[in-house]
Amino acid sequence: MNDLGLHHLYSGKVRDLYAVGEEHLLMVASDRMSAYDVVMHEPIPHKGRVLTALTDFWVHEFNDVPSALVSCDPAVIENWVPGFLGVPEWHGRAMLARRAEMLSLECIVRGRLAGQAYDEYVLTGTVHHMAVPAGLELTDEFAEAMFTPSTKAEQGHDLNIDLDEAADIVGVEMLTRASELCRSLFSRAAQRLSERGLILADTKFELGFVDGELVVCDEVLTPDSSRIWPADQVRRGQVPPSYDKQPFRDWLNSINWDRTPPPPTVPVEIVATTSLRYESAYEKITGHPLSDWYGA
Ligand SMILES: Nc1ncnc2c1ncn2[C@@H]1O[C@H](COP(=O)(O)OP(=O)(O)O)[C@@H](O)[C@H]1O
Ligand SMILES: [Mg+2]
Repeated sequence: MNDLGLHHLYSGKVRDLYAVGEEHLLMVASDRMSAYDVVMHEPIPHKGRVLTALTDFWVHEFNDVPSALVSCDPAVIENWVPGFLGVPEWHGRAMLARRAEMLSLECIVRGRLAGQAYDEYVLTGTVHHMAVPAGLELTDEFAEAMFTPSTKAEQGHDLNIDLDEAADIVGVEMLTRASELCRSLFSRAAQRLSERGLILADTKFELGFVDGELVVCDEVLTPDSSRIWPADQVRRGQVPPSYDKQPFRDWLNSINWDRTPPPPTVPVEIVATTSLRYESAYEKITGHPLSDWYGA
């Protein structure tokens, strides 16, 4: 129980989930920052608001696609969670969602070769064990966006799997539906971002079922779940600057941290520049200042 009498269900690396009745959830995005699945001690101011605001932006952009999101508006949440208006630190970072039965896959879509997929490609010439053309370099675009699901690990790192293994988990028919839905969302988002000078390299969706309907859950196309690059800074074969946490990444690399707990102490100036970077990601993607969003 917390001050609002909500029953705490779960805390992930970033979000705290509370039950709202039997069928709804309050998902509160914290300012926690994780790197290599290790959570830093220092919060990044505004990060949780940016994640929630961007999810809200994309859900509205895809308003023809069923989603679990009910509202991020504190005045609406107050109707479901009496007293919510009296907790300003949650305004803008909380979203009320319908409680879903989650599909046991991380629904990753990749338009460009990067990240773990690039590491695998260098070793084996495949991406999630699937055949792709030879001679690709980091940042190269696939002829068609690839659906490359991974397992949803309860503990530790998610595992990359191929489509046969994914079909073993959710069934062929469901896999096809998830793939079609996620690739369609990906191409719509990539188109929208390209109009703003941004490239969507890859992203991860989470799907679930509400009353038997397949819906988009969790965060949607945020900097935490996506690689978004400034188009004018992409150089074939080089890692482009990450839109959200490049100052943080550069600093992490400079200290040669071994990527295992405990996390290093993040200096105040790195916290400040990373916070500004998240804020500018929101503004660049949506065209609106973050100060327009709830909880400013
Ligand atoms: N509508 C929903 N119904 C039920 N669970 C959800 C819904 N949306 C998201 N989730 C789950 O809530 C959790 C979000 O917390 P987060 O901190 O992102 O966790 P993680 O560290 O596991 O990514 C995830 O486990 C996600 O699968
Ligand atoms: Mg998550």
